[in-house]
Amino acid sequence: MSKRSPSFVCQNCGAAFSRWQGKCEACGEWNTLSEEGGETPAGPGRKPAKGRLFALEPLTGEAHEAPRLPSGIPELDRVTGGGFVRGSVLLLGGDPGIGKSTLLIQAAAALARAGHRAVYISGEEAVAQVRLRAERLGLGNAAVELAAETAVEDIIATLSDGKTPRLIVIDSIQTMWTAMVESAPGTVTQVRGSAQALIRYAKRSGAAVILVGHVTKDGQIAGPRVVEHMVDAVLSFEGEGSHQFRILRAVKNRFGPTDEIGVFEMTGSGLREVSNPSELFLSERDLGQPGTAVFAGIEGTRPLLVEMQALVAPTSLGTPRRAVVGWDPSRLSMVLAVLEAHCGVKLGGHDVYLNVAGGLRINEPAADLAAAAALVSSLANAPLPADAVYFGEVSLSGAVRPVAQAAARLKEAVKLGFARAVVPEAARAEASEPNLKLAEVSKLDSLVAMIAANGRRSKAA
Ligand code: TYD
Ligand code: MG
Repeated sequence: MSKRSPSFVCQNCGAAFSRWQGKCEACGEWNTLSEEGGETPAGPGRKPAKGRLFALEPLTGEAHEAPRLPSGIPELDRVTGGGFVRGSVLLLGGDPGIGKSTLLIQAAAALARAGHRAVYISGEEAVAQVRLRAERLGLGNAAVELAAETAVEDIIATLSDGKTPRLIVIDSIQTMWTAMVESAPGTVTQVRGSAQALIRYAKRSGAAVILVGHVTKDGQIAGPRVVEHMVDAVLSFEGEGSHQFRILRAVKNRFGPTDEIGVFEMTGSGLREVSNPSELFLSERDLGQPGTAVFAGIEGTRPLLVEMQALVAPTSLGTPRRAVVGWDPSRLSMVLAVLEAHCGVKLGGHDVYLNVAGGLRINEPAADLAAAAALVSSLANAPLPADAVYFGEVSLSGAVRPVAQAAARLKEAVKLGFARAVVPEAARAEASEPNLKLAEVSKLDSLVAMIAANGRRSKAA
């Protein structure tokens, strides 16, 4: 007789162990293991089921563009790649309180207003609470169908009865439980089982299902992490608590791009779309201060200008501090090393802080040049020209390398009133902006010399 072996599953990372232990060996977290009903093992004495035959199809054949349903919120559609795909499942992750429920009730209401059946199932809030929020958002009259339910079988039975909804929001997947799995609600096994049932329902019915997932402090989608590979798309909703900006980013997308971002602003009456984010991110600039440089970036297909701020100050510690918000710390280390090795900029006795304004996170190497400009400007106490933008990748040899989409970056800079751009050498060929003065730098040390000369001139004046 095969016996069900007990299984202890880490609630943080989903690793399974045969006995309990205080620390999860896979992720290093303490007290995260809890017992869950294991799967019945296949073993001697269990006959394998006889397989059913199915037809194989050739790869060539008619391909259909995935049928999409635009949400009516263009910033959201930009990230999903043009709308929700029929029969697909999307996971929306984010910190608690970031605005996931707000975004989705707004999307559901927009769809309902367009005449589609939209259902919002809340496992966290009572119907009255959801209704109250919708009223506050001015959506009280939208024909969204609400329920406060957590039993997946009941939800699927209810949804299967009558006309199939076009959009179903499950808020959140951590609160759902299915009778198919024995463990307690909220455990990884339950989250996985519930997600599986909902995914099966989506594929069968053709409805678009959105699962909400809360994220832990270190940025991982706890519990739902195990759901990430099961769903068609994973979106993450980000933002600094103290800023009103919210960035929606695709982490995975089977039907669209993963490099587009959607920008929103949290206001007293819900999330407002920001269709020109550059204006927003540059709205609170400290003009004429040393240590700030405007980076002309690209997010997906959209140019985005942001301010990079640096503070370089003599250290009082044995090991100087390097702190960075909104950019990759290893790229900062690299830029600092190149400045030391090739440009004669000595930073070993200085603390270095780098911040991307507005709570944005930049992933592009093209920001190297702007970061270097901000750092040198702070160290030399020499403000950079307020009407200049910077972009370019810095290589370990100190060369400034060309980056993609230079023309789009320059166009955006002109649109926002910038008159100069400090760019890699190849950018001139792409530039078509007669009113923009281009300063081409092929080596990082020429940028350093340029800033130092400006600093001396402004001090002499
Ligand atoms: P919510 O959508 O409940 O977050 P989540 O579902 O991700 O946990 O948003 C909660 C926060 O948003 C809350 O702190 C208040 C703020 N908020 C506004 O500022 N304006 C609004 O119109 C709404 C509905 C919420
Ligand atoms: Mg919520």
